[in-house]
Amino acid sequence: MKHPQRPGEVDQILADGDEPLSNTSNNDYFGDILHTRLSRRSVLRGSLATFIAGAMATHLPFSTAFAGEGATAPSIGFAAIPTSAADKVVVPDGYRVQPFIPWGTPISGSMLTYSLSSSGEDQAHQVGSHHDGMHFFPLEGSSRDGLLVLNHEYIEPRFMHAAATGLALDRGGFPQNEDGSRDDDQVLKELNAHGVTVVRVREGDDGQWQVVEDAHNRRITGLTPMRLSGPVAGTDHVVTKYSPDGSMTRGTLNNCAHGVTPWDTYLAAEENWAGYFANSDTEIDRRQARYGITTRDSGRYQWHKAAGGADEYQRFDASTRGASARDDYRNEPHTFGYMVEIDPRNPEAIPVKRTHLGRFAHEGVIFAPAEEGQPVVAYSGDDARFEYIYKFVSARPFDAASADGSLLDEGTLYVARFNDDGSGEWLALAPGENGLTAENGFADLADILVNTRSAADHAGATKMDRPEWGAVDPVTGQVYFTLTNNTEREEGQTDAVNPRADNAFGQIVRWDELDGHAGTRFAWELFVLAGDQEESRDLAGHPLDDDAIFASPDGLWIDPDRRVWIQTDISESGMNQGVYEVFGNNQMLAAHPETGEIRRFLTGPIGQEITGVITTPDQRTMFVNVQHPGATTSAEAFANGDLNGHWPDGGNAIPRSATLVITREDGGIIGA
Ligand code: FEO
Ligand code: CA
Ligand code: CA
Repeated sequence: MKHPQRPGEVDQILADGDEPLSNTSNNDYFGDILHTRLSRRSVLRGSLATFIAGAMATHLPFSTAFAGEGATAPSIGFAAIPTSAADKVVVPDGYRVQPFIPWGTPISGSMLTYSLSSSGEDQAHQVGSHHDGMHFFPLEGSSRDGLLVLNHEYIEPRFMHAAATGLALDRGGFPQNEDGSRDDDQVLKELNAHGVTVVRVREGDDGQWQVVEDAHNRRITGLTPMRLSGPVAGTDHVVTKYSPDGSMTRGTLNNCAHGVTPWDTYLAAEENWAGYFANSDTEIDRRQARYGITTRDSGRYQWHKAAGGADEYQRFDASTRGASARDDYRNEPHTFGYMVEIDPRNPEAIPVKRTHLGRFAHEGVIFAPAEEGQPVVAYSGDDARFEYIYKFVSARPFDAASADGSLLDEGTLYVARFNDDGSGEWLALAPGENGLTAENGFADLADILVNTRSAADHAGATKMDRPEWGAVDPVTGQVYFTLTNNTEREEGQTDAVNPRADNAFGQIVRWDELDGHAGTRFAWELFVLAGDQEESRDLAGHPLDDDAIFASPDGLWIDPDRRVWIQTDISESGMNQGVYEVFGNNQMLAAHPETGEIRRFLTGPIGQEITGVITTPDQRTMFVNVQHPGATTSAEAFANGDLNGHWPDGGNAIPRSATLVITREDGGIIGA
């Protein structure tokens, strides 16, 4: 049974396009067709020994031996902090934290200081909103001077526009004209607050980090021209009025997590892009329907209704309006849903959408360590309920001297099947493989890729509990993925890797590739079942204690010493209420990859999620993002100017997404 009234179940933004449940395929749940040892919640609660034996730590005879070969175990040296519901950031004793580059921080142009009245054009020279995935690219190897590159997942319009003051807007709401149209400059500002920031940052002699005005500084936004590359580029799927030859598109949206290529470029993921599009057609084919676009005259922010009717805004209406695809934007949504490659060291480089990595709600991408002469391998999750985990294996081998993004344009995309016995296999999504033939409705490779979800349905992949970030252990090569939650999973739909119905808390899975990262067989186990002191289980099968309880794992990163950093994203509608109350505000924890011990490292302010983490090469400075602080403010409270969070500026300030700079008072390695 579901709990329809429970906090977290009803979510305005989710209902309006985030993580839409759009997998209606009859691709079997493995719980239906295999003997499932763990299919009932009663087993989890009542027969702990059976559960532990079945799901935790026993699937991987390989991992112990694998990890034992030269792997050093990390130290986790800080004292865990308690949960918090306060409007501040808390870190362990001996650590310092500096809020940095909040939304609106100027990085280029006239370096205009942020205000609510800043224009849409000003926003193109300021840090965007809703900070998410992030990487630090050192300049000349420095740990005190480098390019910070970060995604801006979405926006909260009520906190962006002077015109929103006094209106009863919830966190997805925006000002509209009486006829339903939108102010052009507000639309421009909102598009420019999306995308990616590249900004040079440097540590001063006082230990404080500052923005450096620099030629690398750059905003990539929802309007930036981008090239399409790989098998979908140049096909009929992506012909638009803007690009009749299907080679280009404009902008990247809803950039959640990221990846860093072995050739040191940045990939920004396009996650919940589908919600931005309207489409009034009565019939909507699988290229949009399977991604959650339904017949509707509304998009997430109604950009297609910008009053001036500019082409770059009208394209968010994907309705058939012209004589052919060259005359309208029926295909515009097919130019989104990809991983976007950005070269932060070359400010002139045009971003490239790499279509061979698949088209879905990409949460992020994680590369296996590149080996000379071996294929390049990248793992990516599709964050929606009952969607899949994928990996791409390049056709050409890695050669450090010549490697570039073209390696991502030829290869094979696979999707994962997790068997209940702890084995797993990668199913190729390629012409003629796994039933992906013209007779079955997949004309060619471009058709498979633009319809990645449908192809994965057909191949028989395992429907997961919302795959979020992945991480690869830099020593053992083990691959980890967070599965954040899935309250839509019902009894009878469970399987060993998604063992809980009505899964409010999520889990983390990890696996060993049995034939190397490019192979097709793996062995998996659950690393942790998140939850409260009753429902959770650590690697040893014990419930998590007060220092370790968490829910909805999302961000994930394994540092060079193998500490597993876990970040949480309990949704705004659920946090600090009901079953989520015990977890407090969203947080970050560190886990030991071998013992499975977990300790809480950081708690964030009110209303936010913690997402995005990286250190400098010396591991003595850590950057972490705080996204959507204050988002739990109700529409009524907003109208009254009664915001429930004011971080980071405090006082009566509007809350702003920002980065944290974390250091140790003794200058030591973060987490050690
Ligand atoms: Fe953008 Fe799936 O979190
Ligand atoms: Ca996320
Ligand atoms: Ca999330």
